[in-house]
Amino acid sequence: MNQQDSLLIRALRRQPTERTPVWFMRQAGRYLPGYQKIRSGLDFLELCKNPELASEVTVEPLEVLDVDAVIIFSDILVPLEAMGMGVEFGDRGPCMSDPLTGRDGIERLCIPDPVESTGFVMDVIRATHARVDGKVPVLGFAGAPWTLACYALEGSPSRTFAAAQRMVYESPSDLHLLMEKIADTVTAYLLAQVEAGANAIQLFDSWGGMLGHQAFEEFSLAYCRRILEGLDGCGVPRILFIRGAASHLHAIASMVDELGVEAVSLDEMTRPQHALEIFGHRCALQGNLPPQALFAPVDDLRSRVCDLLDVFTDHPGHIFNLGHGILPTTPVENVRAVVDEIRARS
Ligand code: CP3
Repeated sequence: MNQQDSLLIRALRRQPTERTPVWFMRQAGRYLPGYQKIRSGLDFLELCKNPELASEVTVEPLEVLDVDAVIIFSDILVPLEAMGMGVEFGDRGPCMSDPLTGRDGIERLCIPDPVESTGFVMDVIRATHARVDGKVPVLGFAGAPWTLACYALEGSPSRTFAAAQRMVYESPSDLHLLMEKIADTVTAYLLAQVEAGANAIQLFDSWGGMLGHQAFEEFSLAYCRRILEGLDGCGVPRILFIRGAASHLHAIASMVDELGVEAVSLDEMTRPQHALEIFGHRCALQGNLPPQALFAPVDDLRSRVCDLLDVFTDHPGHIFNLGHGILPTTPVENVRAVVDEIRARS
């Protein structure tokens, strides 16, 4: 099938669909037995750099869950390594071997050629297309500059990202330099993914919501804008996910209008009715079942799925997803029940 005609791409373009498409953030991960098996013999980054195995992990959700799209198996931190940082994935999450401290470190970072330095990601996209054989679209993705800067500056796993938060006020011009370099890296990286065959892309600003409201516009939104603008005319729909942005929906909506951004992904803190009022006629909306709801008894879970579908009944561009990624201990059969409910309802 030409992926322009697929359920997901039509929904992202707000064209009529027979039913609501569904996929899940972090659908390729530790809750899946096939993933665990492959990962038990391989370091996380080695898996990301092995297109054969990374594409196998990418398509497992298609086989096990029957989702309407696959998202390539990789990580948002891959481009940071290409810029010259030492990235490691420990048991508690990602670490930098040499977190950035002063302006010197930022100046030393390069803006890498995406194919030369991260060509394995483009290979994963091609290998995934060969496996899915036109059945569903293949999604590419990248992290947004603020979220990547949080990791680059902090070094170790964190809930507060104090180093980046402090830099917003202490040395904003250094932070801007870092953000510009990351934004240019990510723009080229996403364009290379589109070139390699990604049918849509999602930009993840997972930590955007922790900023004060002015800093949010200056450091989260402005750099998402720079990337989304750079992708304008690339031919595939763009999905923007900023976690914690429920109080910034008007600011996001004006950017969506200006740039013609195709879709916004809502976190679970956002009331869907409220998002519909603000975005209704502007773009497609993705989301936003809480990932924790996947632990509910299946009947209860199914009725929550129906309630969410009901909210979006008259909205042509709804894509069912979670408000954030699937948690590692999630029961696979519950995730499958969500997909079955959505398919049965249409
Ligand atoms: O969605 C998918 O299935 C595609 C693959 C994907 C991964 N990470 C694989 C992964 C995607 C889209 C990401 C994005 C990502 N990575 C984000 C943005 C989305 C979000 O969750 O907010 C962020 C912030 C990261 C950074 C990251 N990578 C963290 C904090 C961690 C450790 C904590 C965790 O959730 O596991 C990772 C590791 C990671 N990335 C794993 C996977 C499957 C687990 C690695 C393992 O131990 O096997």
